Amino acid sequence: MVDFSRYTVSIDYDRRLYKQDIAGSIAHAKMLAKQGIISQEDAAQITQGLQTIETEIRDDTFPWDPALEDLHMNIESRLHTLTGATAGRLHTARSRNDQVAVDLRLYTKTTIVELVKGLRGVQRALVDLAARHQDVVMPGYTHLQRAQPVLFAHHMLAYFEMFQRDIGRFQDCHQRTDVMPLGSGALAGVAYQTDREFLAAELGFSKISANSMDAVSDRDFVVEFLAAASVCMMHFSRMSEELVLWSSGEFGFVRLSDDFTTGSSIMPQKRNPDFAELARGKTGRVYGDLIGLLTTLKGLPLTYNRDLQEDKEGFFDAADTLTTTLDVFQGMLPGMKLNEERVSSLAGESQMLATDLADYLVGKGMPFREAHGIMRELSHHCDNWGIGLQNLPLVEYQKFSGLFQDDVYDITAESSAAARDNPGGTAPVRVAAALSDAKKILEAAAHGF
Ligand code: ARG
Repeated sequence: MVDFSRYTVSIDYDRRLYKQDIAGSIAHAKMLAKQGIISQEDAAQITQGLQTIETEIRDDTFPWDPALEDLHMNIESRLHTLTGATAGRLHTARSRNDQVAVDLRLYTKTTIVELVKGLRGVQRALVDLAARHQDVVMPGYTHLQRAQPVLFAHHMLAYFEMFQRDIGRFQDCHQRTDVMPLGSGALAGVAYQTDREFLAAELGFSKISANSMDAVSDRDFVVEFLAAASVCMMHFSRMSEELVLWSSGEFGFVRLSDDFTTGSSIMPQKRNPDFAELARGKTGRVYGDLIGLLTTLKGLPLTYNRDLQEDKEGFFDAADTLTTTLDVFQGMLPGMKLNEERVSSLAGESQMLATDLADYLVGKGMPFREAHGIMRELSHHCDNWGIGLQNLPLVEYQKFSGLFQDDVYDITAESSAAARDNPGGTAPVRVAAALSDAKKILEAAAHGF
């Protein structure tokens, strides 16, 4: 015989909300007593029972019963065992619909604060890497073709910016999550003189929800959380892809520490960048969590529908995936060794300096388009000859333009980078300023959320 009740059970995963559920219930009991809806003695007994339950769950001695479906029913039933009929007074002026909404909002807020801390840690690792190799030039790419020299620090700080935006998205989501739904009841509000502002203050919310029907059916905050997590994982995936490429023999730019590579069971020489690959791979499941919830919500009539129970697993999965990804990168980045010689010698290879040579001609009065055309021909010429621009004799240069003089050989990867001296550019002075701005952001963030 199939046990159909399994289909509705959520206890396997919603038990993660136990602290929030108990905090919500204690605040609710306190409010009911304050308003004279239940007696102070009953509230005290309920609170004590709930505290016992919290300890039992924490110590793993709580008698979970799947037949009771969810966390809320399990706790209420246990409270009944502990306090008798008094337990039945807790659910006055409340429904599981506003209860689960408050639980999930509390949990989401805490999770966001933790994730932002982790993102700050990753940003710190990037700043440290940038500072450690501050003036090292490397090839910058477009189309995965070597394009122009850039500072390695500039490349690291590009990711700093991405994570800065991710933090902004999470903080923004936090604001809209920070709304207290208790008092909405099942959907229409409650027929008691409750004090919702008091509940908000007790539970650390900055405001109360404005519409009971919206409050019990709204999961926008989870969607926003998953969207922010998806964008953030996308950034980690892009960085992972670079680490996979950079740590390959072909690139040879970086060496990841042994803790973050694995050998092959058959090929002894292998140092596989599994952690970066898995971060890239796990990005897919977080996108799946987002699309899953959006699809669940699509077409739901107001107000609460049981479909909403499906919000949790994807949410927890995304939160866990991002949390561990943040841990991994905070561990992996500090141990990453940059092959400074290799990246700077590749950055100095002449084809990377073609733009600078065009700029050189512009500096001598030639219109840029014309200079660009000359450099294209010169580059082809060098390719055919199999010779680098820096080894091309001046007489050859002068066949293309009489403006070329001896100082053409002064152009290097370093001079190329130094020339990009405008806001946001890769000149060492600009990167040094960006680095100090980044450090200031981290210092300021150390004193708050
Ligand atoms: N387990 C439910 C959920 O996660 C709790 C709310 C149940 N409400 C109800 N009316 N059945 O959504």
